[in-house]
Amino acid sequence: MSADFTKSVFILIVSTVVVASFSVLVWVLPNILRTPELIDSSKAIPLTALQVAGRDVYISEGCHVCHTQMVRPIEPEVKRYGRASQEPDDIYEFPFLWGSKRTGPDLTNLGRKYSDQWHLIHLINPRDVVPTSIMPAYPWLFEQVLSGDDITEKMITLRFLGVPYSDDEIASARLQVRGKTKGEALIHYLQSLGVDTAEEVRQ
Ligand code: HEC
Repeated sequence: MSADFTKSVFILIVSTVVVASFSVLVWVLPNILRTPELIDSSKAIPLTALQVAGRDVYISEGCHVCHTQMVRPIEPEVKRYGRASQEPDDIYEFPFLWGSKRTGPDLTNLGRKYSDQWHLIHLINPRDVVPTSIMPAYPWLFEQVLSGDDITEKMITLRFLGVPYSDDEIASARLQVRGKTKGEALIHYLQSLGVDTAEEVRQ
């Protein structure tokens, strides 16, 4: 009697584990081991406390549902959105905001593309600067003020995950954020995108 392996749940589980472990070994593990070297050689700068608060607004408003932050290294994407994404873009990203759907354009290289004033007008009503825009308006972002109450804990958690914040940066985080509107924080975050890593060369 020959064994029919396709009917054995046990063999299915064992072979899945073996294949998955192999992928981790050759693909994930080397990158984890390379992280310290990558951090040393990279120009990536951790977000300031206000930018961290802005990134949280970006997540809570679901901006990542329509916008990606991942330019693939292929010509049509690079021509359209600029420099392809590199590892240093994501060294301090917890969680990643690569996204999976582009209703709007990729924002990897957005920093400094427009003025703060442009972003202000665009967020309050996109149609005022891009008449055909289908992006939703976010006027309340400039009415809701941040208390900064939870920013210290967030910075401590980010440091725990590997972002090299100093004690001073953590101590001054609340003062930096308190009293700013959600929109101001968001614009600070948007203006930082891709600026520090703009010169990184793909290895
Ligand atoms: C329903 C989908 C959708 C959502 C949600 C959305 N956007 Fe957009 N966004 C668009 C579209 C479409 C465009 C292109 C038209 C325009 O510039 O307004 C755009 C354009 C932009 C641009 C200009 C990019 C460029 O390179 O010209 C920025 C910046 C931007 N969005 C930021 C945001 C932020 C921040 C949020 C969250 C507060 C957000 N978007 C939420 C669809 C969306």
